[in-house]
Amino acid sequence: MTRALVVYRSHSGVTRRYGEEIAEFLRRRHIAAQVASVGECDMATLSGVDYLLLGCWTSGLFVVRQHPDLPWMSFVREMPAVPTPAPAAPKVGLFTTYKVATGSQFYNMRAALEGKTAPPTLELKSRTGHLSPADEKALERFLAGV
Ligand SMILES: Cc1cc2nc3c(=O)[nH]c(=O)nc-3n(C[C@H](O)[C@H](O)[C@H](O)COP(=O)(O)O)c2cc1C
Repeated sequence: MTRALVVYRSHSGVTRRYGEEIAEFLRRRHIAAQVASVGECDMATLSGVDYLLLGCWTSGLFVVRQHPDLPWMSFVREMPAVPTPAPAAPKVGLFTTYKVATGSQFYNMRAALEGKTAPPTLELKSRTGHLSPADEKALERFLAGV
């Protein structure tokens, strides 16, 4: 069974909803997808996953200095390095929610993950926390590895 883990950090619920919709999409593709917040995620569940989706709300000065918040950064710091290279390495995707601009958010998420995971091959962003048709296409490409 192909397995996915969706781990999110949400301040007011929008990113949680986005993570849950991502997991629902994966389940429709017959992938066993689990969802957990950074606070409740058991690090043991990271081992052996095929897909790892990491999400955090966008925090910053709205037009500049966007970054993941401290609980997300702490989670990544405590996360064991997941095995690379392929075939053992999970494919990694990032997601965020925002109001104005994501700016440096993905850059900072990627920087925090360096040396921990394979480079992420997906970036999804949403103002609503709902999966758009474009998001679904991007997820299809992510799963297909193209
Ligand atoms: C303190 C604070 C800072 C924020 N900074 C930004 C920002 O720099 N850029 C942006 O587009 N949205 C910013 N937002 C909006 C949030 O990213 C957005 O509402 C997000 O969907 C919240 O997700 P959540 O409900 O999962 O916490 C900020 C919100 C707060 C409360």
